[in-house]
Amino acid sequence: MESLACLNGELMPVDQARVPIWDRGFLFGDAVYEVFRLYEGRCWLEDSHVGRLRRSLESLEFAPFDCDALMERVYRTIRASGIGEGTLYVHITRGVAPRSHAFPEPPVPPTELIIVRVYDDAPTARKRASGVAVVTRPDLRWKRCDIKSTNLLANVLALQSAHRLGCEEAVLFGADGLVTEATHSSVIWVRGGRLEGTPEGTGILPGTTRGLILKLAEEIGIPFSGAELTVPELKAADEVFLVGTSTEILPVVTIDDAPVSGGRPGPVARRLQEAYRKAVAQWLTAKPA
Ligand SMILES: Cc1ncc(COP(=O)(O)O)c(C=O)c1O
Repeated sequence: MESLACLNGELMPVDQARVPIWDRGFLFGDAVYEVFRLYEGRCWLEDSHVGRLRRSLESLEFAPFDCDALMERVYRTIRASGIGEGTLYVHITRGVAPRSHAFPEPPVPPTELIIVRVYDDAPTARKRASGVAVVTRPDLRWKRCDIKSTNLLANVLALQSAHRLGCEEAVLFGADGLVTEATHSSVIWVRGGRLEGTPEGTGILPGTTRGLILKLAEEIGIPFSGAELTVPELKAADEVFLVGTSTEILPVVTIDDAPVSGGRPGPVARRLQEAYRKAVAQWLTAKPA
């Protein structure tokens, strides 16, 4: 099976899943989501993703939501699909109610969509080896980018403008000229032997992959610190990486056409990529199926 959906607890082919037009996710983007990477049918970094989902739901004042029960449905969907190497999308909206900005009163049940899909890592693996080009674009998003909401229009437009130029990603910078993150990945970099990244706060998504990489870096003796960088400073960094759930660690080799890291993946990228692969392999061996 290539994909399978579970809509409000009911398994179905993805193209048969339907949502009412009064759904607040459809009307207002009143919804949150998560994307998990599946290895051998198991959710990688599950606790980090579920923790972030809980925080997103709470930040948007959703009615209490049982994430343990959600994960039971997630694993039921994975098992029914038979998919081992995949991605799993979870999308929860505030539910269905006639259009009015204020929350429905009394609250209505949330709409919950789970989609599991086969994931072919080969194209991204090639990019991890070669490195990628990025452009920089103004960060036009709202001021709560720490919430993983489905309001992604500014991300969509910036990424589209990058793709038009044949680039992999758009690295975003705020009104103050400081780098925040990329449209669907975190940005971290190396300067003077230290790993650095934008400090966590409301301006960036707390990336699950970034969290793991900071731990891996510590284990292999590379110190990390939060740092605020302008675009010219980023361009002068020793190495720059995009990191994310399916991206993993993607070395950046050009920014706005100017070479970074001598135009090829650098040594810290290689060490972190190796540490990442080892962490996945150890987790797969250690965790019972
Ligand atoms: C804006 C943004 N930043 C960072 C990330 C990386 O987060 P994660 O490592 O949890 O996939 C994502 C992933 O979708 C994202 O959309």
